[in-house]
Amino acid sequence: MTPVSSSHLIAVLAADVADRIAAGEVVERPASVVKELVENALDAGATEVDIDVREGGRALIRVSDDGHGMTRENAARAIQRHATSKIRDAEDLVGVLSFGFRGEALPAIGSVSHLTIESATDDGAGVRVEVSGGVLRDVREAARRRGTSVSVASIFFNTPARQKFLRGARSEWRAVSDALTTLALVRRDVRFSVAHDGKEWMRLPVAPDLRTRVAALWGAEVAQRLVAVDDVAGPIRVSGLVERPSDVGTAGRRTFVTVNGRAVRDTGVVRAAEAAYRSTIQAGLRPSVLLEVELPGADVDVNVHPAKAEVRFRDRWTVERAVERAVRHALGTEDAGASVGYVRTFLPVEAPLGSALGVEALRQAPVGTPVPLFDQAAAATAAAYEAGDEGSHAGGTPARRAEDEEILVPPLAQFHRTYITFERPDALVLIDQHSAHERVLYERFMQVLDAGNAESQQLLFPLTLHLSPAEADAFESNQELFARLGFVAEAFGGSSVVVHAVPTPHPRFDAERCLRDSLAALTGDRAPSVHARHERLAATVACKAAIKAGELLAPEEMRALFVALARTTLPAHDVHGRATILQLGWDELDRRFGRS
Ligand SMILES: Nc1ncnc2c1ncn2[C@@H]1O[C@H](COP(=O)(O)OP(=O)(O)OP(=O)(O)O)[C@@H](O)[C@H]1O
Ligand SMILES: [Mg+2]
Repeated sequence: MTPVSSSHLIAVLAADVADRIAAGEVVERPASVVKELVENALDAGATEVDIDVREGGRALIRVSDDGHGMTRENAARAIQRHATSKIRDAEDLVGVLSFGFRGEALPAIGSVSHLTIESATDDGAGVRVEVSGGVLRDVREAARRRGTSVSVASIFFNTPARQKFLRGARSEWRAVSDALTTLALVRRDVRFSVAHDGKEWMRLPVAPDLRTRVAALWGAEVAQRLVAVDDVAGPIRVSGLVERPSDVGTAGRRTFVTVNGRAVRDTGVVRAAEAAYRSTIQAGLRPSVLLEVELPGADVDVNVHPAKAEVRFRDRWTVERAVERAVRHALGTEDAGASVGYVRTFLPVEAPLGSALGVEALRQAPVGTPVPLFDQAAAATAAAYEAGDEGSHAGGTPARRAEDEEILVPPLAQFHRTYITFERPDALVLIDQHSAHERVLYERFMQVLDAGNAESQQLLFPLTLHLSPAEADAFESNQELFARLGFVAEAFGGSSVVVHAVPTPHPRFDAERCLRDSLAALTGDRAPSVHARHERLAATVACKAAIKAGELLAPEEMRALFVALARTTLPAHDVHGRATILQLGWDELDRRFGRS
């Protein structure tokens, strides 16, 4: 390793160094190369794009199009940094319609691979440009029809550190096929053909609408399960397809979001869509949603992420409300309720006490038979309060306490089936039950991930989960860690997993859903260090395993949660950095009521 210079001189990085740094942001893995090349083809007005991939893209990626092509001069320029034909100044960024605009992709790719561009315009004279590890090797004439072919061989051949992060060909191929699926959903007006290791993987004709493309990609049955969304709220239009409530949870979940024709990852939009399902599906189930949002270009910034995977809305709240409303409208149509199973999962809001816990919970924890949420020791400590000194209970918010120190628990009450409240000399205190339990489980999981194993319960009948390729991949790379958390499972043929034992963080715990949701949340995850991986996994599983808002808690459960929270290191924050505890000072209340 080179020692850090002590001169403190600031120097401008040489262009090739800058390119490689940019490459780190734009080119994460073969899938990112495929995305950039296909987007360039689409920007060039292609009506047909052929993609040929070898060894998951590790060996070769070749994208050919019938677009407008490049002249010799432009082809040589395209590989220079910030060379783009798509915008001219910063204002052009507002409402930019092309996928590309940064002029970064080709130089970034060329700096970490062997890159060959062959292109011809209508004029006929074709050109061939070769770049290797950022160095221009050759420019010459080459005869070909109008259009462009770009080949990328031996990705990361000159950056061993990045090459080490590449996964096996199968894994990289999954990511490539995910990226291609997304692009094919976005541009139904284009024909795609894709081959992997010499075998045709898919051939898509032009599709008149999203449902037809979905049918071509995933089969007619999947397409039929989806309800059409189409709604306009002011300047915002939301359209697409979402899963019928009665089908949610029966097959792998798929999400797809575009904003002004650009596929993005946007958890906010997905959550808003999920919110529309409230009371139509069991809490914790995640529907498939494919949504296209259109809004005025000035209301969205597309240049906030190096790979353009995210956008920033000027007014996110309004966009999310529009999405929620649109999906709710769609679910309110007859089409959405047509299936018989709808009734099965529908839980009425005004249900008899206890049934908000769900059918499963009713069977396991009948009303009137409270069960401690956490381990017996914590519950016992909590119970000890009951016999203890009534006068001294009013002290302190939950805080770090030594393991052996007894924690005094004040009288607790649950409101809105969501908040646990208690009184202190200076304030009224509210605890968010889900966030609090999440915090407790997170710290417990971090401990067992770093050392030892969690207790788990052997299943009488092993569970078989059928996973999507991406989820199977997430399982494969986290199998050992899941085992430490108490999920004893093994891969079983292709993309199924057999689960033999599960942890039991609370009596209403739905192990299958927790594992499935956690795997879905971990897809495509590549944390840089062991610790970061532990953190990510612990946070994900804690979030899925924690009791939910809307669950009625028995007094013992509240006390156990209180005690466990008091024993955490960061009781006041959940794992997403939100507050778990809120205090409303008596002073403040007095002021508001005009008493002081
Ligand atoms: N398949 C293609 N057909 C025609 N022209 C292309 C093709 N691929 C690239 N180009 C030209 O090369 C230029 C550089 O491509 P590159 O992908 O590096 O940048 P960009 O698409 O402008 O921006 P971004 O970095 O955001 O993708 C493009 O602006 C375009 O003019
Ligand atoms: Mg581009």
